[in-house]
Amino acid sequence: MSLLTTVVPCRHDEATKNALNQVTPMKKILIQFDSDTVPSTFDRIVAVDAGVDELFSYGGISPDNVTSLVHGAIFTRGPADLKNTAIFVGGSNVSDGETLMRTIGSTFFGPMKVSVMMDSNGCNTTAAAAVVAAKKHLNHDDTSALVLGGTGPVGQRVAQLLATEGSDVTLVSRSEDRASAACDAIRARTDAGTLTPAGAATADEFQSLCSGKQLVVAAGAAGVCFLPEGSLAALDGLSVAIDLNAVPPVGITDIGVTDKAAEKHGVICYGAIGVGGTKMKVHRKAVASLFDANERVLDTQQIYALALQVAGLV
Ligand SMILES: NC(=O)c1ccc[n+]([C@@H]2O[C@H](COP(=O)([O-])OP(=O)(O)OC[C@H]3O[C@@H](n4cnc5c(N)ncnc54)[C@H](OP(=O)(O)O)[C@@H]3O)[C@@H](O)[C@H]2O)c1
Repeated sequence: MSLLTTVVPCRHDEATKNALNQVTPMKKILIQFDSDTVPSTFDRIVAVDAGVDELFSYGGISPDNVTSLVHGAIFTRGPADLKNTAIFVGGSNVSDGETLMRTIGSTFFGPMKVSVMMDSNGCNTTAAAAVVAAKKHLNHDDTSALVLGGTGPVGQRVAQLLATEGSDVTLVSRSEDRASAACDAIRARTDAGTLTPAGAATADEFQSLCSGKQLVVAAGAAGVCFLPEGSLAALDGLSVAIDLNAVPPVGITDIGVTDKAAEKHGVICYGAIGVGGTKMKVHRKAVASLFDANERVLDTQQIYALALQVAGLV
């Protein structure tokens, strides 16, 4: 009996070699810095829905403790891989979020940086969604707009985006001094177009400021009503009205919270939940886009640019 031996390539060895040489895709890690003690579940869920592989959530973040955490983020992966790590700044206090953004930015150097997004209290995604909703029906550069509750984080950003789009914007507060200060703050951030401060405190005063405007956005605090029932019918020339307050009483009584391009008294209306669908899409897209590069800074204008894409307006 002869022993026949055949030499064949060892498939097992080949497969093992291929597997060893294969580069495992690097996990996308989002680091959530929340200025509140307990990190927001809302922001955590959106991060997961946006497709991040790992989410590290930290609460109670302030300029005093953020620097070492940023160092941990930028010194663990090589510059070419840093696009797989990103930071999300959130929390209920928008000015704390803005301060954190500045501290984080000043901790980066050279190529040692990761992309960062700021959306404390949903301020940027909400404002961006409201302004793109209006843009579906109006040419912003040919629009006179009124922002009620314009001194808050959302109202200021709505006013900023409308002004940079070329609208003639009146920003309203119960105090004309606060309205002026908010307009100055916006001008310091952008070379925004026309911003006019106005003081008003009663329904009649709010109604009177609406006269001649094509767009009204109510961005007052939760539960604050500016325009009572029947107001829209009395406004000639108004094309679009948006109310961002979902908490009863709503900001414009004639608008339902779920209204989405609903026509009422000849005015196209959006309520807070009607705007909310776009806001959620924008938030998810913004988080996902952080991983395109390691140097993205997503604040008001950049998030608005993404909102225009989400709305199919670019
Ligand atoms: N739909 C969404 O997805 C979404 C997401 C985030 C926020 N929101 C809503 O968007 C709105 C704006 O948010 P924000 O955080 O910017 O609000 P905010 O800071 O709580 O309030 C905005 C402004 O409302 C004015 N205001 C407060 N109490 C008032 C009163 N009694 N009468 C008249 N004006 C009053 C204040 O301006 P003055 O003191 O200068 O008058 C304040 O600066 C809120 O209703 C919030 O719930 C919606």
